[in-house]
Amino acid sequence: MKIAVLKGDGIGPEVIDESLKILEKIANKYKFDYEIKEGLIGGAAIDSTGVPLPKETIEICKESDAVLLGAVGGPKWDKLPGKLRPESGLLGIRKALDVYANLRPAILFKELKSSSNLKEEVLKDGLDLLIVRELIGGAYFGEKGRETINSNGKDIIRAYDIIDYKSNEIERILKMGFESARKRNKKLTLVDKANVLESSKLWREIAMNMASDYNDIELNFMYVDNAAMQLINNPNQFDVIVTENMFGDILSDEASMLTGSLGNLPSASLGDNKAALYEPIHGSAPDIAGLDIANPIGTIMSLAMMLKYSFNLDDASNDIKSAVSKVLEKGYRTSDIMKNGNIKVSTKEMGNYIASEI
Ligand code: IPM
Ligand code: MG
Repeated sequence: MKIAVLKGDGIGPEVIDESLKILEKIANKYKFDYEIKEGLIGGAAIDSTGVPLPKETIEICKESDAVLLGAVGGPKWDKLPGKLRPESGLLGIRKALDVYANLRPAILFKELKSSSNLKEEVLKDGLDLLIVRELIGGAYFGEKGRETINSNGKDIIRAYDIIDYKSNEIERILKMGFESARKRNKKLTLVDKANVLESSKLWREIAMNMASDYNDIELNFMYVDNAAMQLINNPNQFDVIVTENMFGDILSDEASMLTGSLGNLPSASLGDNKAALYEPIHGSAPDIAGLDIANPIGTIMSLAMMLKYSFNLDDASNDIKSAVSKVLEKGYRTSDIMKNGNIKVSTKEMGNYIASEI
């Protein structure tokens, strides 16, 4: 098992270190060997090589079976031009690995019900939904630019980011949506803005055409503004949501709060090639970096997803999930999910407690 590790910036290194503890423990228990190669990405890469995604990092990742990534970005690099910002390293590695499908499960650990901002009665049946976010298309990767144009004798600036999708790109992500729904509760919601956007209309048409191959799946459509509202109103109406890049970015942050904290949510980014990418959905949280207070659960759960999707080690993957559950059951919490009566622990302590349950 060849694993590339990109710690990145901010809390990235801290949360990755905890998940590596878990990896060591789980490898001992399930008797598998692995090899780790570290690569630079984001601000850390800028500081030592001048670019956010050095060639060497791309090579390390491409030669690996899976990549575990922390987070990138921070105020130190905010003033750099777009292509030299840490974020472009993240977008670059997603593109280089061609991982077009970003699976973001929002699962509520029952122990965390009171950490959710929703009333307990809304979450009485728990919460278990999956957002399938298209990851390497749309406005993030479409033509973008700026120009100065003359309007009524005055110079004004025009800036644009084109939402660009080709039918083959839509088909492959919708297929991932349908197939994911087939493995779950067989309900797929395509979230779009087909009342306004041409690209959304194409997504809908293709989904309707594909539906006949998936007679067992209940397909429905929802506009993104309504979906944002419905996630709060009645989150359990969803099973799998499939959506374009930017809508998926926004809705997955929203869904994470239903589970108590952005810090809890993992993600897996898959494509048709070997190397898949695993990362928590949270960012680098520069304000709390280095304080040993970040929540490592999103990254640890990303490792669990890696064992399942890249290495078919379902038992080991479930083992991590139940270890997290047990630690939460005992009341241990990092500060982001802390409630009265809980025991506050640091990042490292959280990692140690989870490791000790394996
Ligand atoms: C995410 C993040 C990234 C994104 C940023 C850091 C570029 O918000 O993974 O959701 O927008 O994809
Ligand atoms: Mg995001």
